[in-house]
Amino acid sequence: MAVDTLNPSLTAPVQLKEEAKKPIPINAWYYNANGEAPCTPHKYTPNQEVSTEHLEKLGVLTWTHIETEDFEKNQFLNKIKAVRGYNYEEVLTVTPGKLPNFEENTKKFFMEHLHDHEEIRFILDGVGYEDVRDFDGQWIRIEIKKGDLIVLPPGMYHRFTLDEDQYLKALLLYQGTPSRIQFEKKPETDDMEVRLDYVQSVLASERQAPSEAEDKVLAATTKALEAISV
Ligand SMILES: [Fe+2]
Repeated sequence: MAVDTLNPSLTAPVQLKEEAKKPIPINAWYYNANGEAPCTPHKYTPNQEVSTEHLEKLGVLTWTHIETEDFEKNQFLNKIKAVRGYNYEEVLTVTPGKLPNFEENTKKFFMEHLHDHEEIRFILDGVGYEDVRDFDGQWIRIEIKKGDLIVLPPGMYHRFTLDEDQYLKALLLYQGTPSRIQFEKKPETDDMEVRLDYVQSVLASERQAPSEAEDKVLAATTKALEAISV
């Protein structure tokens, strides 16, 4: 099964982005494992920002500043839904007193896991963090707040936490059958077809791309070979 983000339909969100006026990047940075509570920002000093382009290489799609008022009538959001086939949705509020078994569930959300489908969240209110694994395994922290839409690809390891205000209201979108099943990281999960697809189509393709140093070595070798053949 191919990872959806490599499907030609990926051109659709790119077109959508071009239609939007001056897209403002989502906030993302490398996670500093400083031992503080998960809900704190975990930034390095100075902060090490991660670009939207880098997130896209990992298969993560983001949009920001989408109007949340009367979102059912929002044409931009509805266009994204139509193009990507998001045909089921539910509202989830993650805060003490609203989310059943709050402590247990939020601990579970913060365990490293993947899904066999896209994880799609449109943030209606509040702030949270999605942590995703970079090519080399480092955690990248993505701040998701009111007006942000984020799509994580199937097979990508990630985790979620609220920020210190402990409140997030989100629209959860699905393609076809709604499912919140998460597969926590363990050797069996690494062998799941959806994980292998993600590794091969996203992570391995980046590793195969020559680095600048490798490019220089290649250029020098080519030059040397040309000199020999002359
Ligand atoms: Fe998840």
